[in-house]
Amino acid sequence: MCGIVGAVAQRNIASILVEGLRRLEYRGYDSCGVAVLADGALRRARSVARVADLDAQVRESDLDGVTGISHTRWATHGAPVTDNAHPIFSRDTVALVHNGIIENYESLREMLRGKGYEFASQTDTEVVTHLIHSLYRGDLYAAVREAVKQLHGAYAIAVIHKDQPHTVVGARAGSPLVVGLGEGENFLASDALALAGSTERFIFLEEGDVCELSLNGVRIADRDGNDAVREVRTVVAYGGAVELGPYRHFMQKEIFEQPRAIADTIPQAEAFDATLFGEKAAEAFAGIDSLLILACGTSYYSGLTAKYWLESIAKIPTQVEIASEYRYRDSVPNPKALVVVISQSGETADTLAALKHAQSLGHRHTLSICNVGTSAMVRLTELAFLTHAGREIGVASTKAFTTQLVALFVLAVTLGKMRGHVDAAQEAGYIKQLRHLPAALNSVLALEPQIIAWSEEFSRKENALFLGRGLHYPIALEGALKLKEISYIHAEAYPAGELKHGPLALVTEAMPVVTVAPNDALLEKLKSNIQEVRARGGQLYVFADADTRIVNDEGIHVIRMPEHYGLLSPILHVVPLQLLAYHTACARGTDVDKPRNLAKSVTVE
Ligand code: M6R
Repeated sequence: MCGIVGAVAQRNIASILVEGLRRLEYRGYDSCGVAVLADGALRRARSVARVADLDAQVRESDLDGVTGISHTRWATHGAPVTDNAHPIFSRDTVALVHNGIIENYESLREMLRGKGYEFASQTDTEVVTHLIHSLYRGDLYAAVREAVKQLHGAYAIAVIHKDQPHTVVGARAGSPLVVGLGEGENFLASDALALAGSTERFIFLEEGDVCELSLNGVRIADRDGNDAVREVRTVVAYGGAVELGPYRHFMQKEIFEQPRAIADTIPQAEAFDATLFGEKAAEAFAGIDSLLILACGTSYYSGLTAKYWLESIAKIPTQVEIASEYRYRDSVPNPKALVVVISQSGETADTLAALKHAQSLGHRHTLSICNVGTSAMVRLTELAFLTHAGREIGVASTKAFTTQLVALFVLAVTLGKMRGHVDAAQEAGYIKQLRHLPAALNSVLALEPQIIAWSEEFSRKENALFLGRGLHYPIALEGALKLKEISYIHAEAYPAGELKHGPLALVTEAMPVVTVAPNDALLEKLKSNIQEVRARGGQLYVFADADTRIVNDEGIHVIRMPEHYGLLSPILHVVPLQLLAYHTACARGTDVDKPRNLAKSVTVE
């Protein structure tokens, strides 16, 4: 993953480089660093703490300069220690920051060792730095263009050379990189957000592009080495600090923002039609016979939930696959399948690669459901539906998930209508239910004090099971992911009917079993599964809809959900699971918004 920033200007750019990192911390926060070119020498500060620590170092050491690069790291090769923190230097002459993975770094390292280069880090990045140094003949742009020909893997890099003031060279393949155009100054970054306040004019570099930034312009060469002209786009990225308000963490704030986020995502139209998904959607939807949904993590679980809706409301066969699996397996492409990619960030490397793989197999119709309109995913798909969750800062996805569910429900109703399975009265009913969701969610959020009481007990556990059935099985999966991700408690989810085929062996008095119990057609089956757990001494924690007649008893703790919400019930039932994970993590004292080893946006495979 990692985030990179670069700048050339006639003013001190240290604060731009550091502030850019603060906004890119969602891409990783294992270490950070900055290098500037000052008086013909490279100077650098690095920290294995957060950007605030780097900022203090930069100020204390007056690390000023008019040309520089910076980096926030998500460790791949080498532990998060100072030696592995970027910028990485080659012989105090070249400084480089890198986002991605160089797959042939071992052979390059041997080749460079043969030329006398010594390695001070365990990173794959250092080979790129030495390689550029070895190819430099007075022109950094030319050296980088030569170097990238030898790289296999994914990269976005920014490089400076001590003999070339007012020059930053960048290159990208597989990892994002944008050029920010200023007046007499120019910038590079992993994301336009990093440069908010410095410019609103951006060039989104294409695969294989190499660029050279100077004070007065930008040169770009395409993957074949030819001069390239790229579109300049205006992006007003809001880079201001997002206030926490009365909340302890962004995750808590984002959980409580869900009624607003959902209201903003529900289309205002009185009837749903294909144009909600793009100008060409009517034509595209008319010719499809199935859906192939590709996503990762929480977004994958929203796809799994949608499969139930798409098959029951729209009667359209739907396959859901983890993007990192799909991209590498032999599949049987069906050109009549609509490929749907779901992503909060729109930059997740595995989902992007899966999308490109599907396109290369001949899938013509593609739709992204995404929270970032300027993302690579939205740019790559024929159709798009934007969720309006607003910026999600906590690494744990919450409001992004529930707004994805809203988007997918709208898709199911729209396709159901086009395919003759949803009549006007049913559509009006679905729209009415959607519009009532924000109010229903507020009632669920009011359960927080009861959930806090449970979280105290959970915080002392090391394992937990989550059960759900049907439409709520993906919600159990999502609840388990939330708990493990931020509280570090091992959690697994199962379809409740599957328990007796193995996992029941894990159930003892020490095992909390969280159960999602909506008042739906599978309730009686679920009740039997609950009894199987009770009979083995397991401790059940049940989120039960009104009228389920599941009540507090020995070994069974119940929190009553305010109302049963039919097909939209998963959107309500996930919220107490988010709150349970959140308060359990708080009770364990973990870093809720930035859990260990993770990053908000996973831009490496
Ligand atoms: O940005 P995306 O939705 O593509 O991200 C996918 C996953 O990395 C993400 O949902 C991850 O699983 C969350 N941290 C879970 O809370």
